[in-house]
Amino acid sequence: EQQSQTFIRSPIVVVLGHVDAGKTTLLDKIRGTAVAKREPGTMTQHIGASFLPWKALESICGDLLNRIKAEIIIPGFLVIDTPGHEAFSNLRKRGGSIADIAILVVDVQRGLEQQTFEAIDILRERKVPFVVAVNKIDRIPGWKSFPDKPFIESFQKQEPSVQFRLEEFLSYIIQQFNSLGFRADRYDRVRDFTKVLALVPLSALTGEGVPDLMLVLAGLAQRYLKKRLETKISSGRGVLLELKEEVGLGTTATLILYDGVIKRGDLVVTGGLNGPIVTRVRSLLMPKPLDEMRSPEDKFQEVKEVVAAAGVKLVAEGLEEAIAGAPLYVVTNESEIEKFSKLVEEE
Ligand code: GTP
Ligand code: MG
Repeated sequence: EQQSQTFIRSPIVVVLGHVDAGKTTLLDKIRGTAVAKREPGTMTQHIGASFLPWKALESICGDLLNRIKAEIIIPGFLVIDTPGHEAFSNLRKRGGSIADIAILVVDVQRGLEQQTFEAIDILRERKVPFVVAVNKIDRIPGWKSFPDKPFIESFQKQEPSVQFRLEEFLSYIIQQFNSLGFRADRYDRVRDFTKVLALVPLSALTGEGVPDLMLVLAGLAQRYLKKRLETKISSGRGVLLELKEEVGLGTTATLILYDGVIKRGDLVVTGGLNGPIVTRVRSLLMPKPLDEMRSPEDKFQEVKEVVAAAGVKLVAEGLEEAIAGAPLYVVTNESEIEKFSKLVEEE
């Protein structure tokens, strides 16, 4: 009954960084640019995540994309934002645990800060490849902004003294990474991205440098994640990112599906306060396109099935007992319930 053809699932990109580093602004910028360009198949909203199809990447990167000259194999990225406030360390850990790749956002003038170090520990422990977005370059005194342009173009147009100031900030950040045992350099000076961390100077506010960031991300994903992303269409696996009361629906969960497929009516096992929860998917909800919303409450549309990677709202009985961060397994054969319950308890 299961199809056995392999496909390349979209990598999950998690955005991490210290509070106020500019993670959400960066995501808004990427989303906004994709939407503003009005390309077919641009960014679509998922629950708790945004999907950035390859088409949208092409429109953001423009000519830069020719540089990686790679055959396009990934369908796009599922991007997940995380909060930087120290109180949300559990959300960062959860994010790190499902990330295929990450963007670490650092404020150019502040360098690595407390939650940046924490994020690096998570990424290092999980062996997640990451690129560093060195944000807020527009705040460097004397910086002239060239909105949405590649960093390498914008940089050439700056006064030498301003270029020098940026280089100083970068050297400090590179030193900080060195002291943690990482080699790091400005991305356009990196030859081997498996050995040296790439720093992409950018401004999430003006968009300059964002094309370069997406380029590095695409390059990393294409080159280093191919094996990991090859998957057979199989029963779904995911993580409950968040639990939320919805009027008329009761407790629902934001499910990040990182592998396989989940369908309405599927039997699933997840983690609960009083042991594993075995329940059936009552419905799967995705955001409704803005132009189809009739009222602010009319936010969701039902879908029959969802394929990884995706963010979806899960409605099922018993979720009020569920634990955010718990794994979720789709059961295809009732004999698996026990096995999955054990796995859930071990987490
Ligand atoms: P948390 O979610 O609280 O961890 O913060 P965040 O990392 O999502 O930061 P956010 O995007 O909310 O930005 C924090 C502040 O920095 C906001 O006032 C942004 O407008 C500002 N900001 C973000 N990126 C830039 C940038 O590139 N340049 C400038 N000048 N300001 C920026
Ligand atoms: Mg934020």
